[in-house]
Amino acid sequence: MKKYGVNELRRMFLEFFESKGHLVRKSYSLVPHNDNSLLLINSGMAPLKPYFTGQEIPPRRRMATCQKCIRTGDIENIGKTARHGTFFEMLGNFSFGDYFKEEAIAWSWEFLTEVVGLSPDRLYPSIYQDDDEAFEIWNKKIGIPGDRIFRFGKEDNFWEHGAGPCGPCSEIYYDRGEAYGCGKPDCTVGCDCDRYIEVWNNVFTQFENDGHGNYTELVQKNIDTGMGLERLAVVVQDVDSLFTVDTNRALLDEVCALAHVAYQEDEKKDVSLRIIADHVKSCTFMISDGIMPSNEGRGYVLRRLIRRAARHGRLLGIKDKFLAILSATVIAESKDGYPELEEKKEFIFKVLTQEEEKFDKTIDQGLSILAQMQEDMAKAGQKVLSGENAFKLYDTYGFPMDLTQEILEEKGFTIDEAGFASCMEEQRNKARNARKETNYMGADATVYDEIDTAITSEFVGYDRLVHSSEITVLTTETELTEALSDGEQGTIIVKETPFYATMGGQNADTGMICAGENKFQVEDTIHLRGGRIGHVGKVISGMFKAGDTVELAVAEEKRALIGRNHSATHLLQKALREVLGSHVEQHGSDVNADRLRFDFSHFAAMTPEEIAKTEAIVNEKIAASLPVVTEVMSLEEAKKTGAMALFGEKYGDSVRVVKMGDFSVELCGGTHVGNTSSISAFKIVSESGVAAGVRRIEALTSKAVFTYYDKLEESISQ
Ligand code: ALA
Repeated sequence: MKKYGVNELRRMFLEFFESKGHLVRKSYSLVPHNDNSLLLINSGMAPLKPYFTGQEIPPRRRMATCQKCIRTGDIENIGKTARHGTFFEMLGNFSFGDYFKEEAIAWSWEFLTEVVGLSPDRLYPSIYQDDDEAFEIWNKKIGIPGDRIFRFGKEDNFWEHGAGPCGPCSEIYYDRGEAYGCGKPDCTVGCDCDRYIEVWNNVFTQFENDGHGNYTELVQKNIDTGMGLERLAVVVQDVDSLFTVDTNRALLDEVCALAHVAYQEDEKKDVSLRIIADHVKSCTFMISDGIMPSNEGRGYVLRRLIRRAARHGRLLGIKDKFLAILSATVIAESKDGYPELEEKKEFIFKVLTQEEEKFDKTIDQGLSILAQMQEDMAKAGQKVLSGENAFKLYDTYGFPMDLTQEILEEKGFTIDEAGFASCMEEQRNKARNARKETNYMGADATVYDEIDTAITSEFVGYDRLVHSSEITVLTTETELTEALSDGEQGTIIVKETPFYATMGGQNADTGMICAGENKFQVEDTIHLRGGRIGHVGKVISGMFKAGDTVELAVAEEKRALIGRNHSATHLLQKALREVLGSHVEQHGSDVNADRLRFDFSHFAAMTPEEIAKTEAIVNEKIAASLPVVTEVMSLEEAKKTGAMALFGEKYGDSVRVVKMGDFSVELCGGTHVGNTSSISAFKIVSESGVAAGVRRIEALTSKAVFTYYDKLEESISQ
């Protein structure tokens, strides 16, 4: 058998299934899209769930991928043996209501035996105990003798991972030979020694688990298969573990070189070597998908992995920062299948090194405090570290709990985990309550104040709604970040933006920020201190990082509606002055896409006649098609034009003047229609008092006026 490399095997698999009519897609991001049941993608089928359930139509009913996956279930045990890592790649071919058991089984066999060249004599299928259909296929169609087909129960041969599509499965085991066995007389397929290794899993996905153990039959029958690429390579290359297949071996060797040790000479060192190799690989891939170290969710998984790797580096005596160096090897070995690694190289190194530095700053102090705690415990004859102490290490010194645990374990101590959890909960509550007291602007005061003062942004959206610019800053809801990834809330700042931020009574633009497939939905646009404009929203797909060039597109329809209401507000102010007198001054306004609100000084409620007259003047000016012209001039000049200005408002030296024909002239920074005729209609819907001497008008324009009359007409006819 030829000893194919990992990168070769990946290509062979995808080409094989392409030849069987499958659409080959590149790996999906490790960050699940619209799926709260998972922190990280952990199998080939995970990103395809909607195609299995029928919620979404797949681009083709046969697909194949090589999916990057991370499983961190028992992080503390990873590295202790050579069997598990956190990162792996899963090869998979999928059928969404297209082919079923027969083809899936036949093709898995064909690929393993004919393409890869594994000896059929060493392969053993297993099936779900009641699946006679699968038995028949293996036995009759493929020709495997009945006694070589193993029947297993739900535990082994029913595949599911949290909520979602699942079903019975048929696995294929490879016999690595006696040398790898445990030697027990009953050692056979299913034994958990290293002799019989499961390479392929064919899942007959026909149920959906709602996450509470309730199963419903799916309308379409699907195929979900999975084969660990590195596992296949272990068999093909005949090496002893995942850590020594060609690509991973290069990484392991590099760790050995940095630490000046050899692999497999000292079991304790081997653990550290494996941990470092595995974790750096996971971290490299996670960062390339936009995950940033943090104290929550997947960001916390990343932080744990980085810190665990950094600590084991120290245990091996590596003095300098080393994670980025190893990451370069990961990238060199894997860029064949994942070109994005190469593209984001510098960014990945930066994030790794920053986190390593952060950890370095506190680790010595933390370690000596932990040593002190251990000493105290030993003196007092205690075996369990209190939750408060474990939390202190976490909170002040950045020791993830599992790290503390691992260090303690070496000396036979444990942690009061429940106590730790309750300290954590208490802190979360405190943070939550603190957030309740400060509002949006309160968050503003904490997160945005950390932004480099040299960074500013410019509004360029008076006459364009689409503009391309560069990202200068990103923040999550609580901290500055180098990147935001799928599903994350945060703020993006760019050099130049067409998005109007709430100001002068005009509500913010919403819209989209895009870079290829990467999409960020802008839900609000806000002015930040220091002349910056923040786009607040959520990543809907992909990731964004500082330095990216993005296209910013304002939601057009909404901007147009806001513009009409804003221009109408200017006409209204002037009309009120004509009807009620020159004592009318603006006290405030609020203009959004649905309506406008205008507060002004006046001593009495308006009479119906005054309202009708005001309305008529505004509609007359709309019908007159007055051009709307804006001009930037000095405040002095502006005053000469008789422009209305906000009472008590401070203006800069140069101001923007908005003129509507000869009728209205106002100082204003907002966005407007080009001609009053675009407003099409104006209707006052309420007039009321808001304070002594202050009245409020609410009014509608354009479409909203017609909707208003439609409703009125309907209720009259009823
Ligand atoms: N989804 C199946 C697995 O992960 C193929 O094994």
